[in-house]
Amino acid sequence: MSDQPLLRFPDGFVWGTATSAYQIEGAWDEDGRKPSIWDTFCRQPGRIRDGSSGDVAADHYHRWAEDVALMASLGLKAYRFSVAWPRVIPDGSGAVNPAGLDFYDRLVDALLERGIEPFVTLYHWDLPQTLQERGGWLNRDTARVFADYAHVVAARLGDRVRTWITHNEPWVTAFVGYFLGEHAPGMQDPLATFRATHHLLLSHGYAVEALRAAAHLPLRVGITLNLSPVHPASDAEADRQAADRFDGLLNRLFLDPLLKGSYPQDLQPLIGSLLPVEPGDLERIAASLDFVGVNYYTRTVIRHDPALPVLELGQVQPAGSEYSQMWEIYPAGMYELLMRVWRDYRPADIFITENGIPVPDGLDFDGRVRDGRRITYLRDHLIQAHRAIQDGAPVRGYFHWSLLDNFEWAYGYTMRFGLIYVDYATQKRTVKDSGHWYAAVVRENGVR
Ligand code: GCO
Repeated sequence: MSDQPLLRFPDGFVWGTATSAYQIEGAWDEDGRKPSIWDTFCRQPGRIRDGSSGDVAADHYHRWAEDVALMASLGLKAYRFSVAWPRVIPDGSGAVNPAGLDFYDRLVDALLERGIEPFVTLYHWDLPQTLQERGGWLNRDTARVFADYAHVVAARLGDRVRTWITHNEPWVTAFVGYFLGEHAPGMQDPLATFRATHHLLLSHGYAVEALRAAAHLPLRVGITLNLSPVHPASDAEADRQAADRFDGLLNRLFLDPLLKGSYPQDLQPLIGSLLPVEPGDLERIAASLDFVGVNYYTRTVIRHDPALPVLELGQVQPAGSEYSQMWEIYPAGMYELLMRVWRDYRPADIFITENGIPVPDGLDFDGRVRDGRRITYLRDHLIQAHRAIQDGAPVRGYFHWSLLDNFEWAYGYTMRFGLIYVDYATQKRTVKDSGHWYAAVVRENGVR
């Protein structure tokens, strides 16, 4: 750690890492698991950059005990993981697969034995394929079926798991899966995008009710949103309007119904008729939330481009910025976003449920992974999070994305986000320099 003064975080601040089932577990067809939409999507030629899939991934399904031991060696206080719906209820509804629940039962016990608090995400994109064949998120029934799944999981784990996240990034599910077509199920249908958006939010509302009914502990329920500060590419009025519209479609389309009980008024002319709202839906969606999970990676810069369809607003990458393999590196956006969420929505608590950077990591001759870029990224973003806390934002924890290198969706295994390097040929784990650096942050409860 540098000799800079320590920026201490509040006592009890939760330091963790995050993963998701499809990206790390593998064992895609073992012990009763049935295909998800991602198993299907990966088998469609051209969908995944390196032609790979999550069939094996980081083999966490078999190496979970070793991975928990690694978390403990880093002194992590919490671990955010997702439950694979197609492992627990293989057809999405109906019969429960005991072996699927047993896996998460063992994982939770192992975490608790090591003093690591489990944060459970119920949906991180791996919809059972059987449900997709009944319309997936375009079918309103899926919202209720999701709540039944939530009840099953909470009934089994709710005596030990206190913190629940219903959805991970519903915007990505709806816009990347149904509009851009770059994620499962690979549709490109604007009308479908907004049907899926509403049903995802409705499913969250039903699941909050189910979790509160099923769990044994006083629990806290939240949702994780991928949010981003949206800046106009110039001061031109057209760019400012385009940026505001994109802010509506990316951030407010989810934050408003969840935390204010209504869809954004300014979007009504554009999409109001596409959201299949029925009486009682908005009240259900706005069910009380104990926290908002914020996934922050980068800002978004938008210009108006009349040549583009109205939703395909011109996203630009400003000259002069530093970039990772995927995005502009913009630490100030962490502060701006946290303060915006706090100022405009006043959530009781905020957790940074994801933040991280892909780095083309490799093992050096001495077996070390010298990922200084990731350390710099982490430090710069934690400094901004600390600044937001100092200025009043109720940020209670930070989960680095990710614990392990893993399957990065349409990028396959071409992007490495882990604090721990995975040699996919041997599944050997190696803690990177960033992992040791983060362990010191956790120990000191602060960043230098
Ligand atoms: C997301 C997902 C993760 C990604 C990570 C890096 O935020 O897109 O939650 O599954 O792997 O963000 O893109």
